[in-house]
Amino acid sequence: MQLSPEWHAAIEAEGESPVPPYPHRRTRPAGIVELIGIFRRNIVGTFSAADYHNPLIHARYGLLDVYTVNDPALVQEAFQAQHAAFQAKTPQMRHALRPLLGDGLFVSDGALWAERRAAVAPIVHAARMPRFAPVMVETIAEWAAHWRSLGPGAEIDALAEMAELTAEVISRTVFGRRLGRRFTSEVVRGFADYQATVDQLDLLSLIRAPDWVPRPQGRAARRALGRVHRVIDTILDLHARGEGDADAMISQLFAARDRAGRPFDRTAIRNEAIVLFMAGHETTANTLAWAWYLISRAPRVRRKLDAELDALPRDRPPGLEDLPALRFTRAVIEETLRLYPPVPILGRQAVAEGVIGGTTVRRGALVLVCPFMLHRRPAIWSMPDHFVPERFDPRLAPRPAKYAYIPFAIGPRICPGMVFGLTEAVLALASLAREFELELAPGHEVAIQARLTLRPGARLPMRLRPRHAA
Ligand code: HEM
Repeated sequence: MQLSPEWHAAIEAEGESPVPPYPHRRTRPAGIVELIGIFRRNIVGTFSAADYHNPLIHARYGLLDVYTVNDPALVQEAFQAQHAAFQAKTPQMRHALRPLLGDGLFVSDGALWAERRAAVAPIVHAARMPRFAPVMVETIAEWAAHWRSLGPGAEIDALAEMAELTAEVISRTVFGRRLGRRFTSEVVRGFADYQATVDQLDLLSLIRAPDWVPRPQGRAARRALGRVHRVIDTILDLHARGEGDADAMISQLFAARDRAGRPFDRTAIRNEAIVLFMAGHETTANTLAWAWYLISRAPRVRRKLDAELDALPRDRPPGLEDLPALRFTRAVIEETLRLYPPVPILGRQAVAEGVIGGTTVRRGALVLVCPFMLHRRPAIWSMPDHFVPERFDPRLAPRPAKYAYIPFAIGPRICPGMVFGLTEAVLALASLAREFELELAPGHEVAIQARLTLRPGARLPMRLRPRHAA
């Protein structure tokens, strides 16, 4: 989104826009061994400075062709128009997540994906937000109380705090208020242990070994998996015995029907519950953690945010009815998602031959879209590396083009939880920022860590300060 010089001048007059950290952009070619090393540390660090200007990047590693699509019109071709050819997840993603999610929709494709998608998307749809928002508001209020109890100047790990908050919200919405509260920490521990044991870089797939070649899976991974599956089974049993909550997403999963009108079996319900839990919390947590960091670097943004939050009704926490008044807060979240999209690379494998930008893409090739890079392409964005939330404020700027801004992906596989995630992030930021300021702990340097998701390092130490106006 290119903005006029007058617009820049107006924003600059209000105060500086910081340039938060981004990975080093290579200016020379790198060999495969060097690239694997960079990939293991940070998957978005593999792109060179020249790649950021390029609409379509082709690389060949042995037998494997990899196309990185970096242009809105080509993203539309690949993810929308040719969804049928490019809908499958990469073998790396499938092998990393299948043991955990089974045939869950996140890693499925074809008819099975379509059936599950049709059943799951309505469960998290925007229309159900009035049921979920009160759970969000209640959980966020508990967090505010917890922060108040820590006292002024307390140091917190903002990443861990946001991860716990969003895990609690997703747990109470997926499993219901009662069962969610009881089991959140057990589910989270199982997921964390599993993630720690998985190497996302599946070297066998890089050399195009077929899917039936077994990928090594350590004992630790199997133990973590057993724990996750056992705890979800326990929750499903308790729910089926009547200890659940009619508003819980798992209630809707039990009630859902396949194309033939039959209920889903227990394994399918377990897999989709795990998908919802996994997809629904770390992304939102990372967004909030980055937002706290970015706001702490930008006094101009903080002032505007404070003005908006101080105009809200004082007698209750912000809720769904306040969203129309939270336009700048939402702009802060959307700009955070532009600079640090929690899913930094969308990976697909061609299941049939297709054509992108006139280039033939053969079956088996990988097709990637890197929202992190597309969101910083200079031909599309003014001040691409600067934190400027005003570009998302509908009062100041037009909406970015549909295929240029894709933190929730795009096309038929677009995130079905988009409204859920945005609502939760906006309400959490509004509620907590109205009462607190977070300052980066002195001496801490933030560095991007990108594996399955993009985070501000392993931890984000920040100091809590109550706001006087609150
Ligand atoms: C800020 C928050 C979120 C972000 C940035 C985000 C982003 C994404 C992205 C980029 C994808 C596509 C991945 C790919 O194509 O490779 C995705 C898929 C998905 N997301 Fe989200 N998400 C968020 C929150 C949520 C929430 C709250 C839920 C559920 C309550 C959710 C449920 C899902 C599901 C089920 C899929 C798989 C869809 C499919 O494959 O058809 N997400 N999300």
